[in-house]
Amino acid sequence: MSDLEERTFIAIKPDGVQRGLIGEVIKRFEQKGFKLVGMKMLQVRICNQLSPASQELLHNHYADLSTKGFFPSLIAYMSSGPVVAMVWEGKGVVKTGRVMLGATNPADSAPGTIRGDYCIHVGKNVIHGSDSVESAEQEISLWFQPSELVSYKSCAFNWLYE
Ligand code: RTP
Ligand code: MG
Repeated sequence: MSDLEERTFIAIKPDGVQRGLIGEVIKRFEQKGFKLVGMKMLQVRICNQLSPASQELLHNHYADLSTKGFFPSLIAYMSSGPVVAMVWEGKGVVKTGRVMLGATNPADSAPGTIRGDYCIHVGKNVIHGSDSVESAEQEISLWFQPSELVSYKSCAFNWLYE
């Protein structure tokens, strides 16, 4: 796969959805030049076997944090309302996406980043972004079926890349 086709998993967390930040997040990734190749809204409901996404999804997604003291509150937070799950594509999108999100704790996030501009507390930090190409691949396969992702050439491609 070409490095221009690198993909990352971005999720607008329940607070971001409730606070009307879906459009703002999409706008920033679009205007940067990244390409949206998958998107859906879903709510992970604890104790509801019929939900489109299960709690297991969140446990898998944040498996590396399962021993942390804040893990139960993180799972409760992420299942407290709908999330918008997205896959964005472009050269360096994983690393640049993390820069656009800002530091995990909004107290340390630079102004101009999403977390720096739109939130205050680490437990309500609006957005998730994959932290490496490997975790991006793993997270994308966790949240999306291959058939839910699209492949297309943007008409802006030649104005974005040399
Ligand atoms: P994310 O995975 O959501 O993009 O966040 P991240 O890589 O910047 O940070 P990570 O260490 O993976 O933590 C995942 C999420 O857990 C919550 N958290 N709470 N109370 C706390 O000390 C604490 N630390 C982390 C945040 O919602 C963080 O984004
Ligand atoms: Mg993380």
